[in-house]
Amino acid sequence: MRHSPKNILITGGAGFIGSCLSLRLVEAGYGIVILDNLSPQIHGPDTSGNSWLNALRARTRFVRGDVTNRADLLKVLPDVDTVVHLAAETGTGQSMYAIQHYSDVNVGGTALLLDLIANERFPVRKLVVASSRAVYGEGKYRCPEHGLFYPAARSDVDMAQGMFEHRCPVCAQPLQLVPTDESSVLQPSSVYGVTKLAQEQLVLAVGKALGISAIALRYQNVYGPGQSLSNPYTGILSIFSTRMRHESPINIFEDGLESRDFLYIDDAVEATMRAIEYAEPLVDVFNVGSGVATDVLTIARTLHRYLGGGSEINVSGQYRVGDIRHNVADLAKVNQVLGFSPSVSIDEGLNRFVDWVKGERTQSDRYEESLAELRAKGLFK
Ligand SMILES: NC(=O)c1ccc[n+]([C@@H]2O[C@H](COP(=O)([O-])OP(=O)(O)OC[C@H]3O[C@@H](n4cnc5c(N)ncnc54)[C@H](O)[C@@H]3O)[C@@H](O)[C@H]2O)c1
Ligand SMILES: [Zn+2]
Repeated sequence: MRHSPKNILITGGAGFIGSCLSLRLVEAGYGIVILDNLSPQIHGPDTSGNSWLNALRARTRFVRGDVTNRADLLKVLPDVDTVVHLAAETGTGQSMYAIQHYSDVNVGGTALLLDLIANERFPVRKLVVASSRAVYGEGKYRCPEHGLFYPAARSDVDMAQGMFEHRCPVCAQPLQLVPTDESSVLQPSSVYGVTKLAQEQLVLAVGKALGISAIALRYQNVYGPGQSLSNPYTGILSIFSTRMRHESPINIFEDGLESRDFLYIDDAVEATMRAIEYAEPLVDVFNVGSGVATDVLTIARTLHRYLGGGSEINVSGQYRVGDIRHNVADLAKVNQVLGFSPSVSIDEGLNRFVDWVKGERTQSDRYEESLAELRAKGLFK
């Protein structure tokens, strides 16, 4: 049986995941209210000519406002039965120096939202919050001889010597990556990850106390048409493709073999729909990913093959403090409970992403600036 909410508030509904989700929910017949501040870092300084956003505004009740502002939240909370909380600051590297701001928006905004739901008489019956794989930090590994480990962040000393793989603390052999399940140790290694963990725990604790369903989705790296091409702080696919279109060299960090679990946007939306429509009362967390680890060098080469151009791809050995080495999600739980399994392979997804990028205006390339900021703070070596 599918749960049938009628009116759904999507905070951050103008963003990458939020806009695709909102349109899919409109198609399915739901009434959608969006609260989004149209952050210039993500949307650029002027959104008036953005046809994607204009189409979204025409089909939803769109309120431009901030999740840290009580009056803005009070405009959107009456009459919604489900809240999908996506609004957040999302740059891992940036979070390491914009610490108070990340905490104010991600933790403070979630706290205010929950405060209003707990104290005012709104008919909210379900909360869905976007968490992140960042809550796990480095994730789960195995030594064939010495068992499972949840390693701490890698040391600057090791990385400076080009030792990027995690090693067994007993025998010093390289550890093997294991898919991270939901009961893995939670030890975020970035301020961003800390705020995502606080967000999900606030939502779960308050949902449980109020007798409201609360579901946290730990998204892996979501990519696809519609992702911000102008935000230099997030999304390696955006960063690489923008640089390729400028024919600028691509600097691959570490040894290029660092990996991520890349999830195509339609699959992320599908998993979120399933959480929204799940009929039973539920307070729980789920990984949402592809279940496949792809290394960054492979991503760059595949993109280059599809996009063409004269960019050189260089593996630089440089690294960012707080970056994890590998990541892949265990999807058993989300499959079992929500019936979700991903349907778009990385190759197919990259193909669709490139088709979309080719039709977009080439963005100015502000990536070097963003790296210079990190370097100035000692976070990029
Ligand atoms: N995209 C990913 O790979 C990924 C991975 C893990 C988790 N997530 C989480 O999913 C959620 C959505 O991510 P996304 O990729 O769509 O990001 P996005 O940056 O494209 O969208 C975020 C939206 O929130 C809005 N926003 C930012 N601050 C706000 C504020 N103070 N008040 C109101 N609106 C605000 C922005 O304008 C933007 O439209 C975020 O919570 C993010 O942490 C995303
Ligand atoms: Zn060992």
